[in-house]
Amino acid sequence: MTKLDDFRLMFGKRELVPIMIGGMGVDISTSALALEAARLGGIGHISDAMIKVVSDNKFNTNYVKEKLQRYKFNVANTDKSVVHFRLAELAEATKMHVGKTMEAVRGAGMVFINCMEKLTMNAPKETLAVRLRSALDAGIDGITLAAGLHLGSFSLIEDHPRFRDAKLGIIVSSARALQLFIRKNIRTNRLPDYVVVEGPLAGGHLGFGMDWAKYELSSIVADVMAWLKAEKLDIPVIPAGGIFTGTDAVRYMEMGAAGVQVATRFTVTNECGLPEKVKQEYFRATEDLVEVNETSPTGYPMRMLKSSPSIGAGIRPNCEAYGYLLDAKGQCSYIEAYNKALEANPGAKKVSVKEKTCLCTHMRNFDCWTCGHYVYRLKDTTTKNEDGSYRSLSAEHVFKDYQFSTEGRIALPA
Ligand SMILES: Cc1cc2nc3c(=O)[nH]c(=O)nc-3n(C[C@H](O)[C@H](O)[C@H](O)COP(=O)(O)O)c2cc1C
Repeated sequence: MTKLDDFRLMFGKRELVPIMIGGMGVDISTSALALEAARLGGIGHISDAMIKVVSDNKFNTNYVKEKLQRYKFNVANTDKSVVHFRLAELAEATKMHVGKTMEAVRGAGMVFINCMEKLTMNAPKETLAVRLRSALDAGIDGITLAAGLHLGSFSLIEDHPRFRDAKLGIIVSSARALQLFIRKNIRTNRLPDYVVVEGPLAGGHLGFGMDWAKYELSSIVADVMAWLKAEKLDIPVIPAGGIFTGTDAVRYMEMGAAGVQVATRFTVTNECGLPEKVKQEYFRATEDLVEVNETSPTGYPMRMLKSSPSIGAGIRPNCEAYGYLLDAKGQCSYIEAYNKALEANPGAKKVSVKEKTCLCTHMRNFDCWTCGHYVYRLKDTTTKNEDGSYRSLSAEHVFKDYQFSTEGRIALPA
């Protein structure tokens, strides 16, 4: 019986277990989770989303408080364009997060960082350049460019000494997006080292419209592979989204995939950053509780549990403390939606904002319960404790279940 462990992901001469744990911001894919993947011979991701929040939690820095102090005068102002990130602090926080993680790497695997272009931070190019360059400076093994087309990202780092030695990958949801990226980057004379093909059943933001259900991961993967073959390009293809068992993964490996990227099954592991209470929500989820909605201000649909506290919460925008989604003009569609709700309800102490959510605040508080489509199957991956709660799993257990399971079986914890 073929199992995922019968395959290897090759990066040059480096041989890896073909399991990549996808990036999950904000610190849901923790260093501890990524390090476990690396220890077990696969690839783990940390994320640089809301890096200053992560740094404050991990390293007792005071970035968020200090930024809020700096911009306190603007809290009641609907115009947030004055709120800027200090690039030196961004570099410092990134280097700390990446550096400390890389110091702790053990085993034959690798640790990458997930970098979402949509975190535009009121200065998209400048902040992205600092994020990418600082991660490279601090010794990250690879960068996965996510949430956005990143057409110009390679040129932001092409003069970096590690531009050709670090692994650089891109997440796409169509062959066309990959074509565009490669065409745009020919000038840098460097191809991506891998391409994650993310289908419509993934967690987080989706690279599809609200017609996502029309698409199927296996067809997109086949399209991407056909195009690469026709162009004689040898780039490892890594499917993602809805790969729930080792057997699902083997199906893609037999199509010619180099590895798989998975995430949802790791959301209920001890190493995952979600609070225990939220892990239990994921375990308890039923299929009818999962929805794809347009509440994210990024403009991408996002999959989440309908019970997410982020949905409909009309909190005051918190850009003076966070502001990660402010675009180049200092705007965010949540601010607009919030202001509209205030105008429609003059004098109201509390408003409900249905169409958009303050993603920064809610991700920071683990109140946006984003998940892959098959979150409702997590309850079948564990046993219950005496008090009726579900038992969270070790990342090693889940990793090895992907690696060794056959015939669609899922191993329960001992
Ligand atoms: C809780 C959660 C958070 C996620 N956050 C991100 C993110 O910050 N950036 C990103 O590129 N993908 C994100 N994803 C997508 C995953 O990295 C991965 O590609 C996808 O979820 C794989 O599908 P699966 O969850 O069905 O295994 C997230 C997924 C989950 C479940």
